[in-house]
This record gives sequence, C-alpha cells and structure tokens, in this order.
Amino acid sequence: MYDHDLLIVGAGLAGLRCAVEAQKLGLKVAVITKVHPVRSHSNAAQGGINAPLTDRGDDWKGHALDTIKGSDYLADQDAVEIMSQEAGEAVLELERMGVIFSRGEDGKLGTRRFGGQKVARTFFVGAITGSALLHVLYEQSLKLGLQVYEEWFVTSLIKHEGAVRGVVALDLKTGELESITAKSVVIAAGGAGRVFEPSTNALICTGDGLSLAWNNGAGLMDMEMIQYHPTTLARTGILLSEAARGEGAYLLNSEGDRFMKKYAPDYMELASRDVVSRSEQTEINEGRGIDGNVLLDLRHLGKEFIETRLGYLQEVSVEFLGIDMSEKPVPIRPGMHYIMGGIKTDVNGETGVPGLYAAGECANVSVHGANRLGANSLLDTVVFGRRSAEKASEYVKSVPNSVIPTESYVKRDLELIKNIMDADGKYRVSEVRNTMATAMTKGIGVFRDQESMEYAKKIVDKTKIDYRDSIRIENKGKIYNTDLLFALELGNMIDCAESIVHGALTRKESRGAHFRTDIPGRNDEEWLKHTLVYKSSEGEIKIDTPDVTITEWEPIERVY
Ligand code: FUM
Repeated sequence: MYDHDLLIVGAGLAGLRCAVEAQKLGLKVAVITKVHPVRSHSNAAQGGINAPLTDRGDDWKGHALDTIKGSDYLADQDAVEIMSQEAGEAVLELERMGVIFSRGEDGKLGTRRFGGQKVARTFFVGAITGSALLHVLYEQSLKLGLQVYEEWFVTSLIKHEGAVRGVVALDLKTGELESITAKSVVIAAGGAGRVFEPSTNALICTGDGLSLAWNNGAGLMDMEMIQYHPTTLARTGILLSEAARGEGAYLLNSEGDRFMKKYAPDYMELASRDVVSRSEQTEINEGRGIDGNVLLDLRHLGKEFIETRLGYLQEVSVEFLGIDMSEKPVPIRPGMHYIMGGIKTDVNGETGVPGLYAAGECANVSVHGANRLGANSLLDTVVFGRRSAEKASEYVKSVPNSVIPTESYVKRDLELIKNIMDADGKYRVSEVRNTMATAMTKGIGVFRDQESMEYAKKIVDKTKIDYRDSIRIENKGKIYNTDLLFALELGNMIDCAESIVHGALTRKESRGAHFRTDIPGRNDEEWLKHTLVYKSSEGEIKIDTPDVTITEWEPIERVY
C-alpha cells in the first residue's frame, strides 16, 4: 500500500514543476509516469519559452495581447494576464535552478522571434529547450526527495466519498496492479497528439490524463482546437522547429515564390501557426506544392549559422531526407502538433472535481484559445504547474488522515485487464488505432466541414465497437506487456477522439485552428464561447458553451 499527500500523474515539465513546488511547501509528493521522466514528451519541445522581460523594453501587456490575438480571442483573458505577468519570473527561476539558456554576443540571455509576436521574446537553449528544462527540473525534484513510480500506467482514479483519493496503476515491469492513495491528485500527463496520424507527438501522447479526468466528472474544453504546426518534415512528419522561421527562414511554393506575402503581408512566415498552416495547405491544394509539400528555405542563413543556432534541425534534415539545409530547401507540410483543448481548469489548476487538479498540455486554463503561439506551451507548463501545486497543497491540508479502502477499485481494474487480455478478435490494436487516427486527420484537419467531421465521428463510433468486440491481444505475458499497454492507451485515445468530434461538430463558425470551409467566418455574436464536453453520471455525453472571459481586449478582426 503506497500513500502520499500529493500524487502527480505525468513527469513532464508541468508535472515536475508542480512536484518541485509542492515539495518546497512541505508535502510528501510522488509522480507516476509510464516512461522515465526525461523521456516525457516535453523533451521534444525545441524552440523556446516566451517571457516579456521589462529590462528588454518588453512588457506583459504586449505578450498578453499577442497571445489573445493568436488565440483568435478564445483565450480567457484573466488567465492570459496571469501567465504573461508571471512569465519573466518563471524563466529567470529556471535559469537560477540551472538551465543554461543560449546567450547573445552581449552575454545576455538570447531571444529569438516566434510566430504571431511583435517582438523577440522567446528564450531558448539551441533547439533543445524542452530537454534542457526537463533535465534540470528532474534533478531539482530528485534533490528534494521526489518519489518516482517509473514505468507505471494509471488505469483509473480512486474516487472516495466524492473526492479523488489516488489511483489504481499497473506496474509495467511486473504486470501487477496496485493502488496508490493520496490526498490529492494532479494530472499532468500531456496531450493526445497520437489520436491523429501523422503527428509530431511521441507515441506516448495518447491522452491518458484527459480520459481519466473525463471519466471522473471533469469537462474537456475546446477540444476541436487542434494545432497543425506549419513545418513538419516531408514523409516523416518530424517537427522542424519554428525557430527556423524565427531565425529568418523563408517559405516557398513550387514557383519559388514567398507565398506568405499574399496571406500575411506584415508578419510573413511569422504569422500565427493556424494562418501559416492554412496558407501552405492552400498553396498545395491549388497546385503550387511539390508532392504535397512546400519548401522551407534556409540557404541565405549560411552553413555556420545553421549549424550553430539550428544544429538539431540540420541533423534531422540530413539524417531523414539527406538534405543539407545550407544547400537545398527542405520539403515540409503542416502536421498535427498540439491540442489547445483539454481538462477545464481555473487559473489554479482546479477542475471542479474535489481533490483533482490538472496542468500542462492536458489542461485547458484557457490561455491558448483557438490557436497557441509557439513557445507559450513551455511557459504554460511551468506557470500553471507551479500554481496547481500551491492550490493542491492548500487543499491537502484540509484533508484528514484516513485509510482509503481500495480493494474494490483494484478488483474492477483487474476485471478490465482480464477482459482485454482475453480478447481474441480479428484486429490487432495497431490496426484499429491507425484507422481511427488517419480518419481524425482527414476529418478534423487544417480545413474541415460538416461532412468531414461527420465522417470522423462515424469512424470513431465504429472504433468504439471494434475496441469492445474485435481486438486481439497476442502477448499473454505479464512482464512489459506492450500489447496490453497499447490496448489500454487506445481506450483513452477513443475517449479523446470522441470529445474532439463532439466539440468540432458543436462549433458553428470558423475560429483559429477550427476552420470550416462551409462556414468560413468567425461569429463573435453567437460563438465567443467555449465548447465544454462532459459525461453525465449515467455516462451520457453532454455539451455546454460557457462564455469567454474578456478583460480589456475586445475582439477585433485578426490580421497579420
Ligand atoms: O516549433 C517549435 O519549436 C515548437 C514549439 C512549440 O510548440 O511551442
């Protein structure tokens, strides 16, 4: 029997930032993660972290406005204000913890300009920013005595007398199912990118945390807002960081034309991601692409600059396509990258379910609205990871010490696992997963319409049936049974896909990443609203449309 004050599900940046804070506040903290902490998907974040530092002549209001405009006015402005105000301290604190940020010629912390922002305010560590932050936060949390359940998969939450009091989890190394109790649980388990195929996301991004929260009464908000990153490598879908355009790379069509001048004459390649991805897709659809791609041209930056500032991108391009970026433009296209939607929380990570908090990509605070700005996700993780630790710590103090009876929860999940292990249907899990994920990209893509979204829904509905009746598990063993793990993950992915198609079919306008070719305009009169999908206590899917919080920035037309 394992017991803690605070249990954090997920050990990426949000989870570890939360862990560091909660430990400093004196709590007995553990994280539970299905992979080693430094293999969390935060590790893949390349370009940087935004912060408006006043000694650079920047100010939080500038960052807030860029973020709100980037969100196509769907972000809650009170939440954005907090993120922008706390950004400077959050980044400097990381530096004090030991992150070695890249510096400029003057010796000061260097910045690059990222999309949708008027000024250069993205701090970075080469093109491995996420990895650098993650390693430092992991070291810091270990120094403070963090307990890590490494390579454990959470199968369900323990809800006792209406409050979340821990989890049931599978130790992947032994195949044993155990209960871990806690006075409070923070979900920081990352996004759901693999609900789409292809995706820049790691294979572990299967929406586990979203599904856990959804099945325990939390709402999932703005799930239709799926970010397609403008530069993913042809054929492979690997991310080529926005840092390339931040450092001056051009986008070209098959005629060698810098086509962004037609779509975003002021910001060009550094317009917001939704705008750039749609522009690329339009060029491709209208016949000015090359084999379904457009080109990213860095030749004018020179070999030395590319290798010093963008070394990782050069490596990826050479290794996967054999292209030296200083000699030839690289074929790229938009690819699924991030989910703006997530578990609805307030600015302190509270989900509305007693004892349950969320932070990071799985949460929706909401600071990204209908389109996230590059380098705001790392910021979101550390700001709201820290804040959720503070709030959860207050809550923990109000929970009396008591022993939670957990046998019935473990028994329920043993039954679930037995059913999966006995499954002997006609499909392998990967086949079912691929069919659904490909359909999601087709139906909920850069462009979408009623018909395409209904198609995605039809496939998701069928996937649910196939998952119940027709999968088969070939590996019947207990130790590191990835066949079983993938099946459990698929269950979570189906929940996410279902909430995404419901959100998408609900929103009858185009806004940010949700661009409907059948309703191309934004409609503030009727749709300055979030979509909130949740399950009733009977398990029925319900949808609300709560208002967006506006503080001082009234929505205006968004042009770049
Ligand atoms: O392009 C990138 O480096 C990605 C950054 C982000 O998604 O914030």
